[in-house]
Amino acid sequence: MMHEAIDKPAILLIGSGGHSHACIDAIEQDGRFRIFGLVCSDGEDHADRLGYAVVGSDAHLPALALKCRNAIIAVGQIRSPEPRMRLFMQAQNLGLGLPAIVSGRAYVSPHARLGPGTLVMHGAIINAGAIVGSNCIVNSNALIEHDAQVGDHCHIATGAILNGGVQVGTGSFIGSGSVVREGVRIGSCCLVGMGQSVRHPMTDHEHQWAKDRRL
Ligand SMILES: CC(C)(COP(=O)(O)OP(=O)(O)OC[C@H]1O[C@@H](n2cnc3c(N)ncnc32)[C@H](O)[C@@H]1OP(=O)(O)O)[C@@H](O)C(=O)NCCC(=O)NCCS
Repeated sequence: MMHEAIDKPAILLIGSGGHSHACIDAIEQDGRFRIFGLVCSDGEDHADRLGYAVVGSDAHLPALALKCRNAIIAVGQIRSPEPRMRLFMQAQNLGLGLPAIVSGRAYVSPHARLGPGTLVMHGAIINAGAIVGSNCIVNSNALIEHDAQVGDHCHIATGAILNGGVQVGTGSFIGSGSVVREGVRIGSCCLVGMGQSVRHPMTDHEHQWAKDRRL
């Protein structure tokens, strides 16, 4: 575990699966917070994660929120945004601060905007005029080009490219290495599999994950 100044505000990671490891690293590289601990799902094991303690399960959240005033949702998202949305709203209702976390190895233009609780991982670029909503994951090496707009609760996966002016609706997933043509609008709760080339608009709840296969 890194040695962290005790005067930094503490942050709780809600979620303790694989994605929590990436969150830990991003928070360490962001440098503004000290990790209070992680929260697992009810019934999961309480083993440490990368040297940080699992301090409780979902059922303990109200009590933990009295001890630690900031949180980030550390659950991953592919098929459904629902678990991350539910936890984010629960954290909001408990009055927790939900800061955006930006790895020191990412670039976020001063002319871009990020919503609360959004995590920007190593190597990601968010360019001028882009807007990313709340509780999103902008994963390692993703590129969100100028003036693109990403709604709340989206996951832009590793190495995905949203070209200039692309719009992505609430709760959508853009898979690893996918490329979206400039100006294309993707609706809410869409799923774009890894390695896809998206050239045409997608309506709400549409899936694209095999060549010419739109479900
Ligand atoms: C779209 C996805 C969710 C489908 O998963 P699944 O339901 O388990 O589907 P399967 O892997 O069983 O694949 C079913 C079929 O679709 C094809 N397929 C699946 N995903 C595909 C993709 N992204 N592109 C092209 N073809 C794909 C498979 O080859 C398979 O076809 P087959 O019958 O010829 O073997 C998954 O493949 C995917 O893309 N996940 C996202 C991965 C990712 O970006 N992770 C990011 C982590 S940061």
